[in-house]
Amino acid sequence: MIIEPRTRGFICLTSHPTGCEQNVINQIEYVKSKGKIEGAKKVLVLGASTGFGLASRITSAFGSDAATIGVFFDKPATEGRPGSPGYYNTAAFEKHAHKAGLYAKSINGDAFSNEIKEQVVNLIKEDLGQVDLVIYSLASPVRKHPNTGKRFKSVLKPIGEVFTNKTVDFHTGNVSEISINPAEGDDIANTVTVMGGEDWKMWMDALQAENLLSEGATTVAYSYIGPEVTKPVYRNGTIGAAKDDLEKTAFEITDDLKSINGNAYVSVNKALVTQASSAIPVIPLYISLLFKVMKEKGIHEGCIEQIERLYSERLFGGDLALDDKGRIRIDDWEMREDVQAEIAELWKKATTENLSELGDLEGYSNEFFNLFGFKVAGVDYDADVNEMVSIPSEQ
Ligand code: NAI
Ligand code: NA
Repeated sequence: MIIEPRTRGFICLTSHPTGCEQNVINQIEYVKSKGKIEGAKKVLVLGASTGFGLASRITSAFGSDAATIGVFFDKPATEGRPGSPGYYNTAAFEKHAHKAGLYAKSINGDAFSNEIKEQVVNLIKEDLGQVDLVIYSLASPVRKHPNTGKRFKSVLKPIGEVFTNKTVDFHTGNVSEISINPAEGDDIANTVTVMGGEDWKMWMDALQAENLLSEGATTVAYSYIGPEVTKPVYRNGTIGAAKDDLEKTAFEITDDLKSINGNAYVSVNKALVTQASSAIPVIPLYISLLFKVMKEKGIHEGCIEQIERLYSERLFGGDLALDDKGRIRIDDWEMREDVQAEIAELWKKATTENLSELGDLEGYSNEFFNLFGFKVAGVDYDADVNEMVSIPSEQ
């Protein structure tokens, strides 16, 4: 079939298998171009199909020849209806990993559930024995709690008062003011339940209980801080409460891992266009200005550049360079004073009329479509493509 992008708001309903594969190939080539990383050899990635998790899986596999198990929640295609991008990404990843002689298996299902944890435990027992690195990169709007069956929804709201600021509709370039009402009821607690550290700890407990973590094993979860302009809706908002909880959980997990000399870290990453960040008001305007400034300074990075640097310079580079809260800061270039000062100036000026010059709206929009395998250089979108791609290890 011929597959074209079909968007509704900040989601795209279709995705392109060839474009997704090309994205994966580009990431693999990038990692290979940077040379070998003396890193972990047996790696479990939770949230492995898109964004930072996919980049982590690719960096482990093609930077350190690691065996990887990836867990994610994605839809395969049905006749005439493309699968989700994460599904195509994983199909492509496995294909190229296997071609390179690397072990790669995937489990598609709800990582918050006991069933999927059990499946992963059994797979590690059968195939790898133990793992030495666990990447926790889930981003989800909902979580069904495994103990109670209760469904929790996370929200992106400020805490305490209404937040009003600028935002952009990146499809039209329209800059407008948006007001977001503060959290109410159980909003904060629910968001912490979905995106906080509880599930991360449950994973590590389940792995440790079965002796599936090797001596000195490491686990890393991803967090975000960001600038002043997004603080009320991000770091000081409901999602920030969840990130505080996640960061606190790193210390608890490190305590739990004492007997094997293991460590849990949070890495604070750069703001990037992913499915998760496109859904947060105000952030797309910030990202379009951020990209413009960082590209001009020659320090722009995407997911793969971020994670390759995280691995080669921090995790396996001998210097974690932790901040005063014990976090890895691979958002260091985003948060540079000169970068933030320029964005603050541009922020005041940005309007519908001038944003295409002040900001990198085109870059934002392109990266958004890239997430779904569209507008990827070198892909022939007029060519007939088989949508019924499957993930090799799932066959
Ligand atoms: P993403 O949306 O690209 O990836 C999320 C992954 O989680 C996908 O593989 C998806 O299949 C999987 N997933 C979601 N629900 C699941 C479930 N119930 N069971 C199994 N798998 C499930 O997200 P992104 O942006 O890569 O985010 C990953 C982490 O990085 C998050 O903690 C996020 O807060 C953090 N982060 C994101 C930044 C950004 O700008 N996008 C910046 C800094 C940190
Ligand atoms: Na991810």
